[in-house]
Amino acid sequence: MLGESKINKNLAKKVYIETFGCQMNEHDTERMLYHLEEVGYSPSEKRDEADIIIINTCAVREKAANRLFGHLGNLKPIKEANPGMLICVGGCTAQNIGAEIQKKCPFVDIVFGTHNISELPGLIDQRIKGEKGICSIINDGFDYDLDKVKRISSFQALVPIATGCNNFCSYCIVPYVRGREKSIDPESIIKSIKEIVSGGVIEVTLLGQNVNSYGKDLDKDINFSNLLESVSDIIGLKRIRFMTSHPKDCSLDLVRIIKERDNIVKHFHLPLQAGSNRILEKMNRKYSREQYLDIIDNIRNSISNSTITSDIIVGFPGEERKDFEDTLDMVRKVRFGRAFTFMYSPREGTDASKMEDTVSLEVKKKWFSELLQVQNQISLEENEKFSGMKVEVLVEGKSHKDDKLLEGRMENNIVINFEGSAGLIGKIVSVRIVHVRTFHMMGELMS
Ligand code: SAH
Ligand code: SF4
Ligand code: F3S
Repeated sequence: MLGESKINKNLAKKVYIETFGCQMNEHDTERMLYHLEEVGYSPSEKRDEADIIIINTCAVREKAANRLFGHLGNLKPIKEANPGMLICVGGCTAQNIGAEIQKKCPFVDIVFGTHNISELPGLIDQRIKGEKGICSIINDGFDYDLDKVKRISSFQALVPIATGCNNFCSYCIVPYVRGREKSIDPESIIKSIKEIVSGGVIEVTLLGQNVNSYGKDLDKDINFSNLLESVSDIIGLKRIRFMTSHPKDCSLDLVRIIKERDNIVKHFHLPLQAGSNRILEKMNRKYSREQYLDIIDNIRNSISNSTITSDIIVGFPGEERKDFEDTLDMVRKVRFGRAFTFMYSPREGTDASKMEDTVSLEVKKKWFSELLQVQNQISLEENEKFSGMKVEVLVEGKSHKDDKLLEGRMENNIVINFEGSAGLIGKIVSVRIVHVRTFHMMGELMS
């Protein structure tokens, strides 16, 4: 028989979720909030007042996983002072090393994976009834229902179109923690976006690890270009973003549709990862530097005002100085608006983790800062092209740094700050760029 539980039964009913990782995880947090609201929990801004704390984790680099243990260490005294508070760990690290989390941190009440978010209320119920050591992880699955989401923003929405990944880039843990690629059927996507747009949303971001391979697993004649076209037809939808695009599947047809449609942003996030063909092959990226440059040419020849951003890894196993210089050379040739740069981090279970990690941390750090310096200069020069221009900005809120200023995003995802009234939040306004920096811009509202 299960013993009498000290867990709060239904008094305050507040949940606090801390989210790490990518936009897919942000969306998963919105799904957790939906399922918890169904059983009476409302979101709380204050961690220490919550009845349930959920950490929605990322596993993409070792640092992200290690940070979880530091974080849980900080929660331990809070849990000891308030044993009725539930501590749950979900997301990609939970999916990856759930049993280890529970062993190292037995005060964690519930560990759950990426494929069973809708089970959360049931797991909480089991815990409240006294069950201990709950660790519920499903190896691969599909648990998405686009209608079961508690949206955090009233004017922007994240909409997954496919989950999982089949690419198995040799360094990457995502296919192991998110399972095989599964496209969500196009009818549900369109229906769901129509509903949220009629509820006031003006910008959607279509999410997938590789949006360009959308539909390949469906028994239907549909691809990402067709889907994008149908989404773009939805009346009232002002801005469509999408990420991430894998270069190997970036078709000419897709570029044409993006060019033709005013409500699709001219922003491509096309991770390069490395500039050397030898390393690209070891990474299993399935394109060469020459093919990547061709794709960039296609995009730029067709859409002259497009912005291309990227992800780049330095210090992959076996990478030598000349390979790294190939990366620098690509960065100089392509001229990304922005690049997210990472030091290679071995992830257990991946193919690359079986290769010898030959680049020392010292060299990784040196290459990382060299790359950053080159890219930051390019970002600044690319941003300078916008100086004095009038751009359309979706106002997202007040600036985090100065609440007298508003903060919004240009079409190409660059953040811009300017003076204006809070009544503009959620609207698209015209702004003239008056000052350009490396990662953001200052502007002036136009009437
Ligand atoms: N699906 C997306 C992004 C996945 S993860 C894509 O294909 O681009 C986001 C970024 O993290 C990757 O683009 C890559 O640059 C970086 N990354 C992934 N695994 C990594 C690792 N083991 N070490 C360092 N960076 C990594
Ligand atoms: Fe990881 Fe590659 Fe899949 Fe992106 S495409 S999630 S980098 S395996
Ligand atoms: Fe995203 Fe990190 Fe998982 S990048 S898919 S939250 S491993």
